[in-house]
Amino acid sequence: MKIGIDKIGFYAPHIYVDMEKLAEARDIEPAKFTVGIGQSQMAVAPITQDSVTLAANAALEIIDDEDREKIDFVIFGSESGIDHSKSGAVYVHQLLGLQPQARAVEVKQACYGATAGIQMAKGHIALNPESKVLVLGSDIARYGLNTAGESTQGAGAVAMIISANPRIMELENHNVYLTNDIMDFWRPIYSDKAFVDGKFSNEQYILFFNKVWEAFKSKSGLNLSDMEAICYHLPYTKMGLKALRTVIDEAPEEVRERLLENYQISTQYNRNVGNIYTGSLYLSLLSLLENKEDLKEGVRIGMFSYGSGAVGEFFTGVLQPNYREHLHIESHQRIFDTRKEVTIEEYEAIFEETLPRDGADIELNIEQDPASIVLSGTVDNKRQYVNKNS
Ligand code: COA
Repeated sequence: MKIGIDKIGFYAPHIYVDMEKLAEARDIEPAKFTVGIGQSQMAVAPITQDSVTLAANAALEIIDDEDREKIDFVIFGSESGIDHSKSGAVYVHQLLGLQPQARAVEVKQACYGATAGIQMAKGHIALNPESKVLVLGSDIARYGLNTAGESTQGAGAVAMIISANPRIMELENHNVYLTNDIMDFWRPIYSDKAFVDGKFSNEQYILFFNKVWEAFKSKSGLNLSDMEAICYHLPYTKMGLKALRTVIDEAPEEVRERLLENYQISTQYNRNVGNIYTGSLYLSLLSLLENKEDLKEGVRIGMFSYGSGAVGEFFTGVLQPNYREHLHIESHQRIFDTRKEVTIEEYEAIFEETLPRDGADIELNIEQDPASIVLSGTVDNKRQYVNKNS
């Protein structure tokens, strides 16, 4: 039985910062951000968007009534959870109107959460072929104003339906995964901003990639020539390229050119959204699928997932017949076309705006956020969510 990605959707907040202007404001050469790091625009989450609303908005555009009846497992991958106890999946389940006989849980391992969700979903579908699983990767990347990590922030979510006989990508079973206890990036419970050892994180990302890639080749018998493209977890778009360059010489010239060209296409959305942590790898896949018009069905795509701390995984998928008909290219284009740029001063003010921490109620202005699903405030320490269209 084939199991894989049946649908894939994406959402990013309606406002962004121009990276050249951020560089100027920080007295940094703009090319460092646009070339050295490889980011052009950075999505900014208004206070009316959190990891729950981003995920729910991403899922809203892909699910139909049949999905609402068949989804019996919601897996919410995030490192920007809004509650230490209750999972974001339960809120999303309600906001989407899914049938009640479902499991709903949150999965955390830095940027690896959504990949863990997909692998769990595969097992669930193998046992329950009629079911569908909704896997969400949703995050707001925050390092802080005026920090080295600031240029690698972002916000957004990817939603995927995993099912039997998938219409977009069959997931193959040669997965190789690796865990090692390291401190390259972490966020203690008391902090709303991440700590990162940037250089160490880069080194470990590449080391993990090299290790899982070597093991993958032995396990699968496949090599670079068998890959039409490799998509990477992208904290910033230069990162995956550094990893790809460490193995590219294994391939003949024509394969090298193909992989490098497809790598650029796979980073297009990420370059203009920034880091969305657990959804980043899947945003890269979406960027490749939606922006490379002549990507043929039947080709194999490599996927490198990395979650600091750290867990890495390499796996592959094969594009299904007519997969392009099942993408939501126009609505994703609309997200980019209708976004509004904010000034650096506006971004700084939005970044510093937080919900009350003393239990006070707050009512937020939801009219300034065009998203369907928004956070409207808090009452009695409970977040209040609104679907404007229901
Ligand atoms: N023109 C072009 N490139 C320039 C430049 C200029 N004027 N100035 C600098 N650069 C390049 C540097 O050469 C470097 O390229 P390289 O990495 O290929 O050598 C790149 O820009 C970044 O410069 P660097 O000095 O290393 O930047 P930094 O110390 O400010 O840190 C990060 C950059 C990415 C390490 C930092 O933003 C960070 O830690 N981000 C978080 C990473 C993360 O999320 N990790 C966890 C998940 S994997």
